[in-house]
Amino acid sequence: MCPAVRSILRRARPALAGGLVPLLLGAAGGDGTPDRHWAMDPAGPNAGHIFHLWWIFFWVCAVIFVLVIAFTLAGVFRTRLWRAPAELEAPQLTPDARRETRLTNVVSGAVLVSVVLLFVLMIGDWVTARSIHSMASKDPDTLIVKVIGHQWWWELQYHDPEHPGPSDQVTGANEIHIPTGRPVKFELNSADVIHSFWLPNLTGKKDLVPGHATSAWLQADRPGVYDGQCAEFCGYQHAHMRLRLIAEDESAFRAWIAAQRQSAPEPSNDWQRRGQQVFLHSTCSMCHTIQGTPAGGRVGPDLTHVGGRTTLAAGTLPNTVGHLAGWIVDPQKIKPGVRMPQNNLSPDDLRALLEYLESLK
Ligand code: CUA
Repeated sequence: MCPAVRSILRRARPALAGGLVPLLLGAAGGDGTPDRHWAMDPAGPNAGHIFHLWWIFFWVCAVIFVLVIAFTLAGVFRTRLWRAPAELEAPQLTPDARRETRLTNVVSGAVLVSVVLLFVLMIGDWVTARSIHSMASKDPDTLIVKVIGHQWWWELQYHDPEHPGPSDQVTGANEIHIPTGRPVKFELNSADVIHSFWLPNLTGKKDLVPGHATSAWLQADRPGVYDGQCAEFCGYQHAHMRLRLIAEDESAFRAWIAAQRQSAPEPSNDWQRRGQQVFLHSTCSMCHTIQGTPAGGRVGPDLTHVGGRTTLAAGTLPNTVGHLAGWIVDPQKIKPGVRMPQNNLSPDDLRALLEYLESLK
């Protein structure tokens, strides 16, 4: 696509989100930062193929739309109703054979063009699907990320070929890290209802169906933070089921996964020690795991390195102490229907718990 059109579209998007008035006034944003949640800014080969297909569909449909409207208007203005009343009094009732033949030819030609164009779109679709599937490789060194959809968060399990043992498994939630420049395989499944994995800058949608394993491949060509969203209605908090993908160069990714493989750091001061006890002796540990402690619940996200994540509650809140406190005390107020209950903790216990959780980098 030409850079000018791209720039206009990029500027139009926030304006469309905020209403048409700013767009018409030309007051749209466009601060030059990359778009993190937009299919029109592809950051990998899969999204690039889909992006090109989108433009083929757009231009074919736009040209047909303009032609149909033009012919409709021509038909409306040519009709006899617009002519002088004197002519209407003497309509010609016998069809003109040559004119009829010409009109039949025009209509037949239009039908033929429509059929050809439908085939062009179908072939474009097929070529795109083939290109996307061509990323699948049998390379034994492929990094595999298992993604399990839950109402309403994403469980992640990394299968790192360099560390194949079960004790080296890395479990996370809602924030996927991958290295740039090589294909990564995502194995998708669901623990409850149908969800859909969608990272618009990187790949199209893929459903997560309970009991039916599927897979998707994607590659990020440039480092960045890319936001995604569950794209299949999955209940009350479907809209608050976001995910984030952080693409980084190989060495940064290696450092990250090595850190994730470690158990949670030991508490380093009295508040953190008290916080750990609060965690282990309250309802928290029944649903959450913290590696290196007796807490092994599997209902909610693994919290071994929760302090290192950028968001809480599947992209609902930024990961700050204040938001974490609000979330622990009354998650139902923030995300009604979520499976986490309210927690009545004394102010000191809450402070201790926050200090402990924030230390889990
Ligand atoms: Cu999960 Cu919508």
